[in-house]
Amino acid sequence: MSKRISISFAKHGAIDSATAVLLVNAGGKAAAQAESVAAAAVLSRIIDVSDFKGKIAAVATSIAPAGTQLDRLVLAGVGDTGKLKGDDWLKIGGAAFAKLGKATAASVVLALPDREVSAGEAADFALGILLRSYRFDKYKTVKDSDDGEKPAPARVTIHVAEPQAARKAFAEAEAVAAGVTLARDLVNEPANILGPVEFAERIEELKKLDVKVEILTEKEMKKLGMGSLLGVAQGSSRPARLAVMEWKGGKGKDRPIAFVGKGVTFDSGGVSIKPAAGMDEMKGDMGGAAAVTGLIHALAARKAKVNAIGIVGLVENMISGDAQRPGDIVTSMSGQTIEVLNTDAEGRLVLADALYYCNDRFNPKFMVNLATLTGAIMVALGVHHAGLFSNDDELAVQLFDAGQVTGEKLWRMPLGPEYDKLIDTKNADMKNIGGRHGGAIIAAQFLKRFVGDTPWAHLDIAGTAIGAPGNEFSQSWASGFGVRLLERLVRDHYEG
Ligand code: BES
Ligand code: MN
Ligand code: ZN
Repeated sequence: MSKRISISFAKHGAIDSATAVLLVNAGGKAAAQAESVAAAAVLSRIIDVSDFKGKIAAVATSIAPAGTQLDRLVLAGVGDTGKLKGDDWLKIGGAAFAKLGKATAASVVLALPDREVSAGEAADFALGILLRSYRFDKYKTVKDSDDGEKPAPARVTIHVAEPQAARKAFAEAEAVAAGVTLARDLVNEPANILGPVEFAERIEELKKLDVKVEILTEKEMKKLGMGSLLGVAQGSSRPARLAVMEWKGGKGKDRPIAFVGKGVTFDSGGVSIKPAAGMDEMKGDMGGAAAVTGLIHALAARKAKVNAIGIVGLVENMISGDAQRPGDIVTSMSGQTIEVLNTDAEGRLVLADALYYCNDRFNPKFMVNLATLTGAIMVALGVHHAGLFSNDDELAVQLFDAGQVTGEKLWRMPLGPEYDKLIDTKNADMKNIGGRHGGAIIAAQFLKRFVGDTPWAHLDIAGTAIGAPGNEFSQSWASGFGVRLLERLVRDHYEG
């Protein structure tokens, strides 16, 4: 759910809204185009009286000087313009947008004092606005209207040197924004509304973008031998689904790249039940599946020249007379047997079958899976990096770099035979938990047993996809983490 907002680009020149946004660098300087809206002397007075030093994404607002048609000026800091990187432009756009207050229209003079603004930077600035404008308020019958950033402006005109190039870059950014928004919406939605079947229905809507969608039912999964995934689902009265999305934007016979997501629409822990405090957050235990869905949406919306598969395992982990018990032994589609010693370590059980199925059916160039898999990854890394585990250094580096560029940061974690042996058990081929330490690594080792020799990476997004602290361009409980990251991976390495 986003506030509807329309962004357009125009050449530098006369400004026709009552609110103007101007960029100021760390030296307190604005571009000549900005100084034609408000004189340099006026700008430096505003800077002097506000505690504003032009730092990246800092903002100052002021009543516009007499003698202009403007009501209000918003100064947005860009810091040292030679050093802008990562998600800085998203932050600048988001921070500026948050200061527009009750204005229904605003004009931005997107120019720097000391260099050009590229089309990509203009698109990122606009993307920051779109992402900041997101809110999940569909269930508030009375909307908050006085939280300082609402109602937001409906029209933002961004003045740039070359509007045509900016528009082109922005068209792609809009596709990405739609993917992030979809991911956030899916994760924010409560589990009474969004179960496996409803999630699958949302995925079917991607058909409108020419994505091929197949939804496997429990009967079909049973036939395929997905005992690991189905064991998790059996305690819920809501049946499991496996959704397969195919975007074919590349050459006909090009092997696809594949993305696999954990889609536990609610994780009660099952019989190994979770404590009551914070259990509500487990409506977001499908953050991996949401990111995969958002990514495929983004790739299709911008008609990416790539063949990409998205597969999500959709289940609800509940407790009932039919629920899986600790000690149960299940047989996965791979044929490997698993002793389920803790029913709360369910994500790996779902992914085991989803990964194996993906590899077996599509023989992809690589598989990247995303999952809110372990609390342990937050203990290890906090909430500003997702855990990256991989059996392939090249893929790991590509992912790490995409994280640096998008600000959806990753940190590589180890794998190794010492950890692998922790999941051996005398009763079956493996158990679904290991020892007390290194829980995120043990979970990754478990997944590794289902990917064969295919280049693979696992992103543990438990700390970054849900409940992560807000920033300039995300005030949502669900961040949509992974969509921008993987869209960048595809764009930089796997298109054309
Ligand atoms: N969905 C949870 C992990 C999680 C916890 C995600 C908090 C987001 C926030 C996962 O299914 C789980 O319960 N993991 C257990 C594994 C343990 C039983 C080995 C955990 O992390 O405690
Ligand atoms: Mn769990
Ligand atoms: Zn879970």
